[in-house]
Amino acid sequence: MSRVATQSDRNVFIELWSEFLVEHRKHGSFILPTERTLKHFLGLFDDYTQCRKIGVTAISDCDHAIGMWGSVTADGSSPYDSDYPCTVYGHGTYVRPAYRRKGLSLGLWKRAEKLLRKRGVNAAIGSTIMANSHLRPMGEGRGFKPLQSVEIKVF
Ligand SMILES: CC(C)(COP(=O)(O)OP(=O)(O)OC[C@H]1O[C@@H](n2cnc3c(N)ncnc32)[C@H](O)[C@@H]1OP(=O)(O)O)[C@@H](O)C(=O)NCCC(=O)NCCS
Repeated sequence: MSRVATQSDRNVFIELWSEFLVEHRKHGSFILPTERTLKHFLGLFDDYTQCRKIGVTAISDCDHAIGMWGSVTADGSSPYDSDYPCTVYGHGTYVRPAYRRKGLSLGLWKRAEKLLRKRGVNAAIGSTIMANSHLRPMGEGRGFKPLQSVEIKVF
């Protein structure tokens, strides 16, 4: 079971998201697990819990898992015209190691998707770290289909 986070979950968010950023970096993410990075995501958490932007943070019972999905604009609209006018982005999902492969992450997503649909969101965009091989099956299990890949050239 899970709950939709409120402002009273701020400390839980900070704790779990800090762990997430460290592990995500180990899997090859270019996002550094710094105070500034955490502040950025905490800002999104605040935007979603205070309804300044469309989004949701879901936390599992006993605070073992967290996931956050949301828009970058106030009404969820895309900043450019697109096939998906009201889109949210997957900011991350993290399950503490001892609690993995029990369906917690899937449970968080189902909870979030239900709520986002009610708010008029019609698409969710996620990204996959190529080196993290289990993310593709996880995305497919949630109904995500590969659409385009992101490329990077470092100067
Ligand atoms: C990725 C992560 C969130 C999965 O959480 P989880 O609660 O263990 O996932 P679930 O139990 O809901 O698994 C859902 C499905 O995803 C796939 N999956 C999850 N972990 C997997 C693994 N290690 N290897 C292969 N497939 C995996 C499976 O298809 C699984 O379904 P199944 O167990 O019926 O086969 C968790 O491993 C994690 O926190 N990893 C570190 C952070 C991270 O990489 N987050 C994702 C980037 S945003």
